[in-house]
Amino acid sequence: MDQVFLGIDIGTSGTKTLAIRADGTILAKASAEYPCSAPRPLWSEQNPDDWYRAVVQTVREVVARSGIAPSAVRGLGLSGQMHGSVFLDEAGNVIRPAILWNDQRTAAECTDIENAAGGRDALIRLVANPAMTGFTAPKILWLRKNEPEAFARVRKILLPKDEIRRRLTGEFATEVSDASGTLLLDVAARAWSKPLLDVLELDESLLPRVYESEDVTGRLTPRAAEELGLSTDCLVVGGAGDCAAGAVGNGIVRAGLLSTSIGTSGVMFVHSDRVKIDPKGRVHTFCHAVRGMWHMMGVSLCSGGSLQWFRGALCTELKEAAEKAGCEVYDLLTAEAAAVSAGAEGLFFLPYLSGERTPHADPNARGAFVGLHLNHTRGHMVRALMEGVTYSLRDSLEIFRELGVPVDEIRASGGGSKSPFWRQMQADVFDRCVTTVNTDEGPAYGAALLAAVGGGAYGGIAQACAQAVSVVSRVEPDVRAASAYNRGYPLWRDLYPALKENFRKMAR
Ligand code: XUL
Repeated sequence: MDQVFLGIDIGTSGTKTLAIRADGTILAKASAEYPCSAPRPLWSEQNPDDWYRAVVQTVREVVARSGIAPSAVRGLGLSGQMHGSVFLDEAGNVIRPAILWNDQRTAAECTDIENAAGGRDALIRLVANPAMTGFTAPKILWLRKNEPEAFARVRKILLPKDEIRRRLTGEFATEVSDASGTLLLDVAARAWSKPLLDVLELDESLLPRVYESEDVTGRLTPRAAEELGLSTDCLVVGGAGDCAAGAVGNGIVRAGLLSTSIGTSGVMFVHSDRVKIDPKGRVHTFCHAVRGMWHMMGVSLCSGGSLQWFRGALCTELKEAAEKAGCEVYDLLTAEAAAVSAGAEGLFFLPYLSGERTPHADPNARGAFVGLHLNHTRGHMVRALMEGVTYSLRDSLEIFRELGVPVDEIRASGGGSKSPFWRQMQADVFDRCVTTVNTDEGPAYGAALLAAVGGGAYGGIAQACAQAVSVVSRVEPDVRAASAYNRGYPLWRDLYPALKENFRKMAR
């Protein structure tokens, strides 16, 4: 009987599940959406019950669609939005809604953490990264300070995918890639940082056990097996945070490979054989989902999210036209942008609609169109927006260059990169060839490959990727566009420093 593996990605807008054969071929996929709430400005929360319902629904759909016997599902891998905090009481009840990666309420706690660690440099020495509002540790301190009664009841703190693991297996477990984004992991040692936990006065018993991504962390409980329609023999591997799982799905498992991903957030992810740290803390250094390896990444908080905002806020009337033309509103917007020349005739866009992480780490940063004149049309605005998002990815590429991280190949992925226009723009803005691979399924695919490794189908994740992932397209930069962007990028890069102080005053 064929062995089947599932990959489940608990994303911010929904959960995606897919089933693969051991050789990596996809049998079926399904997705289910859920809401995100913003009860106050800068807040972003979700209900873990919604994630679980989506997991049950999509697993059942995938098994039904692939026509396999439930007993054929040998294992599953979990992936998900990183950094979110699920607070559990003694009885395993969720104490309050989970606080997500894109929540910006914790600026004061980030300062508290740096002070407690003996300064920003000392913190970077302990956990390889500075404190960022999106990370988990500042969320824990925020709860302790602002909701002390809730904090007093907390017995365990889990990341989103690990809360699903608990419901599936009964185990409190995480793995190195996602644990890195808590800011509590000694990234070099791949274990919780006792010195940092001590100065923050946090008990290690609040945290789950840390595994490598391909390790088996448990099997389905009888209850979960019944709810999912699977067997209790189905094993659950560590899996990975969505960035590392997405990178595995793109085959970013050896030095020299970098992936760009344009989803709600934008991620520049590069594999590293050793722990390399940006002393300025602009890009993250995290453990990779490849055993004993690391990665660096830059994260822009509102990449595809900027275009999504533009469509929702300013283009509702295009919905009907798109339906008539049998296409998406995005296709119409892209066509308008394509009619404008590179550089959008002097119009620039800062994509900081939800604050920014890389390279500015500034929750007060805001979006801006700069340089509007009377001849500009919606097409110019869309083009400038896509260029601004791509320039913000180039920021990370420039930092990797400065740090001497080798980049031999750039692989584009994520919803935004499905657009040939945006892929060409990436090649032009980076002034480098950009490739795509055969697997276009994001983190769920990487999680399924990790399950296949944990289930014994491969000797390691690099072997699994060599079998399942191959390059299928290459886009070379257009000389004229690349030269326009090489002139535009320094102008764009000067805008944030010029506006930074205004953003700070406006936030007050
Ligand atoms: C990574 C990050 C985001 C979320 C989105 O550091 O914050 O990419 O994981 O799902």
